[in-house]
Amino acid sequence: MTANDKYAVFGNPIKHSKSPQIHSAFAAQTGQQLSYRAHKVDVDKFADAAKSFFDNGGKGLNITVPFKIDAYNFADELSGRARLAGAVNTLALQDDGTVYGDNTDGAGLVRDICENLAWEVTGKRVLLLGAGGAIRGVLEPLMKLNPSQVLIANRTVEKAQQLARDFSEFGSVGACSFEALNANQYDLIINGTSASLAGELPPLPSDALTDEGCCYDMMYSAGPTPFMRWGAENAAWAVSDGLGMLVEQAAESFCIWRGTRPTTREVIDAIREELE
Ligand code: ATR
Repeated sequence: MTANDKYAVFGNPIKHSKSPQIHSAFAAQTGQQLSYRAHKVDVDKFADAAKSFFDNGGKGLNITVPFKIDAYNFADELSGRARLAGAVNTLALQDDGTVYGDNTDGAGLVRDICENLAWEVTGKRVLLLGAGGAIRGVLEPLMKLNPSQVLIANRTVEKAQQLARDFSEFGSVGACSFEALNANQYDLIINGTSASLAGELPPLPSDALTDEGCCYDMMYSAGPTPFMRWGAENAAWAVSDGLGMLVEQAAESFCIWRGTRPTTREVIDAIREELE
């Protein structure tokens, strides 16, 4: 590895990305010389921009909305978890000049929930809200924790049913509409819809949480999201946004690129402080 290896995140929009700050903090902490920039890429130009980046000495990319499927198609080789997610958030140049694609989102979520928050998942009833790329990307690592039940609720029920079929080999997973969510309680509800972005809340019954039920929103924000507010109003034992997941998925990418795992607590705290 040479000094000042080049890394970047590609997305559109990208202005508010925290990734440059996170990776710079990891580099400082682990004593490594690297640069990490955020690039706004035209929506139809991902492959050209990625090729040019690697042709010009780039070592690794993070990929965010809306390019995770383009990155999946761009990679010469894929990890098993990227294949299952159908999406790539990390590209790494290999010694032979080919590009490896991985997906660290699920590992990031699981690390945040199980280690930073210390919430129990094994043996618990888990309700997942949404059936888009965000939920697809985290299903397998969550199911590997052996929850007693996994249910996917989505506005468009057919998408939830398709996801449940795609992941049935990893355990029992059900699918339903929000309207069908009645009279059952869950120990962990994870919001992977994009409803929070629009300031909206999926229509949840007020009694969907058990006494020790926790609410996790994969989105992060300065204040509580509508889903986090719903959790607090309905006596959740704990609620969290997805800032920890963001930092943990970045740490996993850093580890793929640099072969060393940074610690995350201080980085999560620093970004949280800035947000507030
Ligand atoms: P991502 O890749 O971030 O998951 P996506 O694939 O567009 O984005 O999926 C967005 C998810 O949020 C979908 O599950 C979507 O529901 P539909 O499949 O019915 O479209 C869900 N979603 C978006 N806005 C929502 C809202 N206001 N209420 C409930 N669900 C919503």
